[in-house]
Amino acid sequence: MIRAEEPLIRVEGLHYTYQAGTPKPIPALRGIDLTVQAGEYVAVIGANGSGKSTLLRHFNALLLPTAGNVWVTKWNTRDTVHLRDIRSTVTMVFQVPDDQIVASVVEEDVAFGPENLGVPEDELHQRVDWALAAVGLTELRHRASRLLSSGQKQRLAIAAALAMQPRCLVLDEATAMLDPAGQTQVRKILHQLHQDGMTIISATHNMAEAVQAQRVVVLSEGRIAIQGDPRFVFAQEETLHALQLDVPYPTRMARMLATVIRDFPTDVLTVTELAEAISMHLGQPLELRPKPTTGVR
Ligand SMILES: Nc1ncnc2c1ncn2[C@@H]1O[C@H](COP(=O)(O)OP(=O)(O)OP(=O)(O)O)[C@@H](O)[C@H]1O
Ligand SMILES: [Mg+2]
Repeated sequence: MIRAEEPLIRVEGLHYTYQAGTPKPIPALRGIDLTVQAGEYVAVIGANGSGKSTLLRHFNALLLPTAGNVWVTKWNTRDTVHLRDIRSTVTMVFQVPDDQIVASVVEEDVAFGPENLGVPEDELHQRVDWALAAVGLTELRHRASRLLSSGQKQRLAIAAALAMQPRCLVLDEATAMLDPAGQTQVRKILHQLHQDGMTIISATHNMAEAVQAQRVVVLSEGRIAIQGDPRFVFAQEETLHALQLDVPYPTRMARMLATVIRDFPTDVLTVTELAEAISMHLGQPLELRPKPTTGVR
């Protein structure tokens, strides 16, 4: 059930300082205001240490603000009475797949969370089937978890999070440890989940993933430096470079081509858009290959 334009997460004047009250406080967030609507897909990017993980950990009350407030739907994260509601609304997936696996068999790992919540058997089976299908692991459901590849383990971690039926999936560099094929699969899963109505917030260094978000939030030294749709954000190459961030590869290629081809467009974001710009330039119609099947869904 998606209600459009309903804030799922609301952050107001958020400051967070590690080691607050000690002689060496570390201010990690310095005044963040942010609203994420139900059904939105937000990518959070920023250099190492810019505050991405610290921000994300506020979304399910793993951290509480030093100053300011965070609401998950109507619950203030400071209100510990609603901790369980908050955590079942917003579920996190972390960077290291191994750290997130709790059971020795794939399907047991997916069932673990909802089983602990006392979800009845019938529904439990449905949830597990759905979550495994969503990440393309149905065929490996009886496999030993430790025998999975890193990419498969991360898909398992996503399935385990999905089985909790959260409204919002928060991922902290969930593709960082994966090989390119694993990264692509997880990226496609996130795209599909978003299409299906899931709210997604993903901190990532993978610009190909950031491009598929509806909104990109750029953090710098604990503040929002730029935010907007991917085309708006990635048009600001110089600013991004100053923040030690890259633009997506196709954007970079287009900018390089524009240095030698007059009027070549530089606002491309994807390989398809780059191919379209080249075919326009050559005056030849673009013949797209059929989309390859990925093995995921
Ligand atoms: N547990 C901690 N104790 C003290 N300082 C911390 C802790 N975790 C993070 N910091 C500091 O807070 C700031 C923000 O860190 P954070 O991990 O949120 O950044 P990040 O954007 O997620 O970085 P990365 O891209 O490396 O994951 C940094 O200065 C970091 O050194
Ligand atoms: Mg981080």
